[in-house]
Amino acid sequence: MTAQVMYQTILTKQENEIFYITINREQKLNALNIQTLTDIKNAVLSVYEDGNVRGVIITGAGPKAFAAGADIEEFSNFSVEEGTRLSAEGHAVLKAIDHCPKPIIAAVNGFALGGGNELAMSCHIRVASENAKFGQPEVNLGITPGYAGTQRLAQLIGKGRALELLMTGESINATEAHRLGLVNHVVSADQLITKCEEILNKIKTKSPLAISSVIRCVNAYYEKRVDGNDVEINEFGNFFGSEDFKEGTQAFLTKRPAKFMGK
Ligand code: COA
Repeated sequence: MTAQVMYQTILTKQENEIFYITINREQKLNALNIQTLTDIKNAVLSVYEDGNVRGVIITGAGPKAFAAGADIEEFSNFSVEEGTRLSAEGHAVLKAIDHCPKPIIAAVNGFALGGGNELAMSCHIRVASENAKFGQPEVNLGITPGYAGTQRLAQLIGKGRALELLMTGESINATEAHRLGLVNHVVSADQLITKCEEILNKIKTKSPLAISSVIRCVNAYYEKRVDGNDVEINEFGNFFGSEDFKEGTQAFLTKRPAKFMGK
């Protein structure tokens, strides 16, 4: 059993090999201040090597918000240096999510604006409740997104659609987010966590080695300094030395369910 760590701004729990992170600043619509970013990063990093965790769900406390953005009050008087540091740290936190070897699902339970939408986009999969709202309203504040919103939104929904959302600052509802490909599924609020658990429970039956490899290969496509095809060739080849591959193929050939050990 993994030791429980106490965080200041998030709640965590672990059940059935799933690690749950709940951003716990409901009065501030779960706005992401620096402490929250630090807590999320530390919580996510803690599951990287944790053999008891097979997947992560990130959500926001309360019925209204996943996260309504970076904490505007906190950064309103920042200098150029502080702003640059904040953006760099935001990028680092969301990269820790994106590169996590375990699947991370954003359970978007309300407003996902600015940094909230950027946080959701850094997760591998997004499931939205019907009341969710998405947007990058930074231009209303006289600023641009700072946690890779310009990059990941264009990757997820295409350049033209991303530019429209980024330049108008308008929010879209869950149905529209689904239509644009920003979210994978839309469900009622009471089914939100169940739907995320269903997806992770399916993934849990697969080889952990294969799952982390899929994440690495897909991420490689978006990295400018590596060739994703080379990464895939290398990853694929390495499986022929793994026990999971032997188990998966033997299970198929002898018509029994596979039991993967992640080795
Ligand atoms: N940063 C800091 N505080 C925030 C916040 C943010 N991004 N978003 C909401 N809050 C705070 C509000 O200031 C308010 O605090 P208060 O009760 O101490 O005054 C509390 O959360 C509730 O928000 P409120 O605006 O009263 O709720 P609402 O239902 O009327 O509006 C939103 C909801 C999301 C439309 C509105 O809060 C909003 O526009 N938030 C900012 C979104 C944004 O620009 N994000 C990008 C930041 S870079």
